[in-house]
Amino acid sequence: MSHVGRGSLRCCRCSKTTDSDQRVGLCGCGGTLVYEPDLDAARGLDPDDIARIGPGPRTLSSLLPEQSCFLTLGEGNTPLRAAPSLGQAVGITDLWLKDEIANPSGSFKDRGMALAIGMARARSAPSLALATAGNAGVSAALYSRAAGFDLYVVMPEITPPVFAHRARAWGARVEMGGADLAQAGALLRERIAGQERFDLSTLREPYRVEGKKLIGYEVILGLRRRVPDWIVLPTGGGTAVIGVDKALTEMEKLGWLQGTPPRLACVQAAGCAPVVRAFENRQAVTSAWEKPETGAWGLRVPAPLGGSRILDALKRRSGIAVSVEDEDIIQGARELWGLERVPAGPEGGASVAGVRTLLKRGVIRFDQCVVLLITGGSPVGVDSPLGLE
Ligand SMILES: Cc1ncc(COP(=O)(O)O)c(C=O)c1O
Repeated sequence: MSHVGRGSLRCCRCSKTTDSDQRVGLCGCGGTLVYEPDLDAARGLDPDDIARIGPGPRTLSSLLPEQSCFLTLGEGNTPLRAAPSLGQAVGITDLWLKDEIANPSGSFKDRGMALAIGMARARSAPSLALATAGNAGVSAALYSRAAGFDLYVVMPEITPPVFAHRARAWGARVEMGGADLAQAGALLRERIAGQERFDLSTLREPYRVEGKKLIGYEVILGLRRRVPDWIVLPTGGGTAVIGVDKALTEMEKLGWLQGTPPRLACVQAAGCAPVVRAFENRQAVTSAWEKPETGAWGLRVPAPLGGSRILDALKRRSGIAVSVEDEDIIQGARELWGLERVPAGPEGGASVAGVRTLLKRGVIRFDQCVVLLITGGSPVGVDSPLGLE
């Protein structure tokens, strides 16, 4: 019997498993769920073939839930390219950029939304809802439109209006509410209480992470037999860290990752750094950041639901968490544009600022192979990606 794409869902808190055929958000105990593929079904895959064709829901179907490939708008397999000019400016000889701006809605949210919304449709969700710092709302609106879903979105009041305009243009109903993502999420849950709307907010369903894990496959298979020393990830809710870590674990189990696995560096804005604080204090869980203050919207996540999962991934991946100031974030985004012609948003700038800090501290060495995730474009311009001028 074929087991292609069959797996189960496991709760990260109580370890209870659930059938992946059901439409599920959080576990009954409130914990987040993780999809566990049947790795035996993927043993016949040849990573070189996949590298040639491109990792994605079709080529990696046995590592994903059955219906994963039902909704696609051409997301993923984004450019992974050497960045010698930026490398010289930063002081790293082997620097690479994974340019997520090439995705259909302009950010790394698309693989996750394609999967989560495709799965919600396959599981007959009546309508969808999402609290978002911006980009996830735009992405969800695009994929909801493609799948024929009604989508209700809440964004924090201070989110630049361009995100709401773009989400509305694709048919989402958007409300601006709450001072930060934690408050926007609380407002969303209050509004949809008693409704059948399926909540797609970060880690409140398991499949956005499955989409994000494809970034890890793309980086490792994209460099063919070379394994980078570091993957640098701007971090808010932590889906990229959690997804990339999951990909690395799966590839290790499949024997696709040779040599020392990459270490993960998580970059946050100094004005909202709950993961960095917990990491530096050697805590296993994050505590809410009291007054989030940063112009890097995607990183303004004061109380990530998956805080313990991020910290756990960093621990297992010999990782590190580092915070950077907004002025260095702006400088990083300007360099991405000026030196590499990548019109990055502030979060991409944070990757650059993060690598610079880690180099100065001697954590990253100048001759190591480093991949920066450039998670999205700038909605307010490349000269002042935070809209501060
Ligand atoms: C452009 C951008 N980068 C990074 C992030 C942080 O994402 P996460 O920590 O969930 O991977 C976000 C989240 O909204 C974002 O929009």
